[in-house]
Amino acid sequence: MQICPSKLRIRQETAQLRAAGKTIGLVPTMGFLHDGHLQLMRRAAQSADAVVATIFVNPTQFGPNEDLDRYPRDLDRDLALLRAEGVAAVFTPTPEEMYLPGADAVVDVPSLSGILQGAVRPGHFQGVATVVSKLFNITQPDVAVFGEKDYQQLALIRKMVRDLDIPVRILGHPTAREADGLAMSSRNVRLSPAQRAAAPILNAALIQAQQHPLSSAEAYVAQISQYLAEEPLCDIKSVEICDSEDLSPLSGPLRRSAVILLAVAFGDVLLIDQRVIDPGKDSS
Ligand code: PAF
Repeated sequence: MQICPSKLRIRQETAQLRAAGKTIGLVPTMGFLHDGHLQLMRRAAQSADAVVATIFVNPTQFGPNEDLDRYPRDLDRDLALLRAEGVAAVFTPTPEEMYLPGADAVVDVPSLSGILQGAVRPGHFQGVATVVSKLFNITQPDVAVFGEKDYQQLALIRKMVRDLDIPVRILGHPTAREADGLAMSSRNVRLSPAQRAAAPILNAALIQAQQHPLSSAEAYVAQISQYLAEEPLCDIKSVEICDSEDLSPLSGPLRRSAVILLAVAFGDVLLIDQRVIDPGKDSS
């Protein structure tokens, strides 16, 4: 596996792969890899000849009071995991390598970046769109794989690629879960034992909603909020139900595919989870 800390090195590696006739599957990450990330690598390997990963904790997607400094990091372990997965090359830039002095060009998808999580994390999705478009420009992948857990991020990246005609196929991969249902996240290690024991309630609330269809969007939100509120460690940030494609807010009876989006803090650790519900299909 080629470890490429500079743009020049990863460009050389990807150019060599393309020259050898190989298609490239990109998996962008912020490191501290877990099994969910490794599933994304395997999905990329099924969809392209060579997998290229990136590890970069992107400062522009963290707000001033967010956990940039506390975001967990372990590059040596990450590299060993990627090597074992047969990843061809990994891009590991520093912020200074990624952003040249004075860089202020940004990419934004305003219809999706200011709503839902974007409304409570101003600038976050502009930071994501900008770094992901830079990663696409640097590595020029044929396909790129992202987790469905970050549902709004995936919708925004799909729209960015569509609106800007970026020649890459975006694949979403189902959320990987721990045995007790907690969605895998690099942030889970920051939960205290009590918070970790309580955190699977997000998935439990989503399962309950999926299995017991209700008459309206408002009824889902009320029922899930009540379910979560029974856990004293849950600090509910948002419970939203939206159109599963354009993320527009839904009200009244559900007549089309909807996504429930949860954001819940345990202390200073923000967890998100989601579930798509299809009226008429989901009741098992
Ligand atoms: O989902 C993440 O880990 C990040 O938002 C991403 C896509 C790697 C961009 O920094």
